[in-house]
Amino acid sequence: RDTDCQVINVDKLTYAGNLDSLSEIMSSPGHIFEQEDICDGKAMERIFAQYQPDAVMHLAAESHVDRSITGPAEFIQTNVLGTYNLLEAARNFWSGLDEQGRARFRFLHVSTDEAYGDLRPDDQPFTEETPYLPSSPYSASKASSDHLIRAWNRTYGLPVLITNCSNNYGPYQFPEKLIPLMILNALEGKPLPVYGKGENIRDWLYVQDHARALHTVLVKGRPGRTYNIGGNCEKQNIEVVRTICDILDEMKPANGCRIPTAGCRELITFVPDRPGHDLRYAINDTRIRRELGWFPQESFASGLQKTVKWYLDNPQWVERVRTGAYREWIRANYEMQGREGF
Ligand code: DAU
Repeated sequence: RDTDCQVINVDKLTYAGNLDSLSEIMSSPGHIFEQEDICDGKAMERIFAQYQPDAVMHLAAESHVDRSITGPAEFIQTNVLGTYNLLEAARNFWSGLDEQGRARFRFLHVSTDEAYGDLRPDDQPFTEETPYLPSSPYSASKASSDHLIRAWNRTYGLPVLITNCSNNYGPYQFPEKLIPLMILNALEGKPLPVYGKGENIRDWLYVQDHARALHTVLVKGRPGRTYNIGGNCEKQNIEVVRTICDILDEMKPANGCRIPTAGCRELITFVPDRPGHDLRYAINDTRIRRELGWFPQESFASGLQKTVKWYLDNPQWVERVRTGAYREWIRANYEMQGREGF
């Protein structure tokens, strides 16, 4: 919306992808959709040759930690091998450009703060120099892909950028992640499954702030450099869930909603912890603030309000993403270790 760029949107449309999320921009001349898999080398070659991009923003990944615990193979396939494949296609294209084109080209890899491991309550937030110490198959696969990106920069000179962001939230998020899962379960009067004691801490970043940060890094970032992106908003999970409950109680949604009359908090249910559960993530975002002038603009209070409202206003989108496969996964995940009734 805010640039003259043309965006070639390449997506495999796995369980979490959904063309409905693109309906607003599908007919825009600034947006072209290609359904392809980054693991398909020939397809990636074709896309580079056909569209001659100035830049790649690589956001394609398996991203849900719980899924990586029950089935790590796809995380290695997409996040590690897919990244390798995309890097090679980009390098082949980039090395065929003239000097000016090579200097202008950018490859931005969108990664995660989880690659750094986790923090104790008194530890200093992650900086770009924090050593990698991933805990889950998901974060290990993202850490691996970051290593590939840096190696392609150092060895071949590919002008890469890496961003490590904290937990995103906002409209259009697939309802396996904490915030949309809690909103939608509450509306149906289902238990709100809080892992362990709910004391784990995440740093919440509104999705529009993240999108602005990615554009800023792409346009102004120094090739070869990493930028942390955070929301400056650390919260315990239980606090997040209670806040969602309070917003829903206040909004009093109608339309077949099954929130208990005593209030949403009644639904909070503590369930066995996630194996290897990271205690705390926190981001030191001094570099992106000082060097590129970016900072988060949304407060958690207003971002969460907007998010809850978006899910209430878009029941059709919700219904369509909740396919049979989604329901099956939710059941399998929360029934694991005897978490029944989810
Ligand atoms: O930090 C960035 C990362 O944030 C991204 O790289 C990941 O792709 C993204 O999924 C997210 O990882 P988390 O594991 O922190 O997100 P998730 O929404 O799965 O969980 C957030 C916290 O809430 C975490 O401490 C686990 C807890 N949780 C999650 C679910 C789904 C619950 O207590 N109950 C739940 O049902």
